[in-house]
Amino acid sequence: MLSGRERLLNKAVSCNHPKRLRNWINAYWRYSEFIFRAPVLFAGGTITPEGSLSSHLFQAGIITRDKRDDTDLDISIGLALQGFLLKGREFGLGTCVLTAPLAFIEDVGSIFGTREIVIKCFVTVGFPDESPAGPERMPVTDIYLRI
Ligand SMILES: Cc1cc2nc3c(=O)[nH]c(=O)nc-3n(C[C@H](O)[C@H](O)[C@H](O)COP(=O)(O)O)c2cc1C
Repeated sequence: MLSGRERLLNKAVSCNHPKRLRNWINAYWRYSEFIFRAPVLFAGGTITPEGSLSSHLFQAGIITRDKRDDTDLDISIGLALQGFLLKGREFGLGTCVLTAPLAFIEDVGSIFGTREIVIKCFVTVGFPDESPAGPERMPVTDIYLRI
């Protein structure tokens, strides 16, 4: 991650608006670096299933690769993460889902030796230092539209 950050910062120098880009990189670094201090760090990923309808249609040359394959996997990992985070909460653990560190790592699969698993995020886990009040819930009428 450290070398990835240096690489991005150096490349940003020769781009349009280098200062703005470096600020973006540094902001995402601040949202990433605390994984080094996490008591436990998980990586979460997905495996592309072989037997789906769209993979058969693709192999038969009937369709091009379907982007929705990834959507399904991303929804699945989101649901699994929600269960993971809530179970942690039940045990008094604090968690944080992160994707920003992936911007600083060139080939995350090779680090874990899990080529068939596409790493989608990290999750820090530990006992929380503080217990801030949750944000106020939006009223259902603000997020639900009946047509
Ligand atoms: C897909 C996704 C990626 C995220 N990536 C990061 C990240 O890289 N770094 C970070 O500090 N927070 C990240 N967050 C935000 C935290 O996981 C968390 O949702 C946010 O801090 C709000 O938590 P709170 O509701 O407890 O305040 C991400 C959230 C999501 C849903």
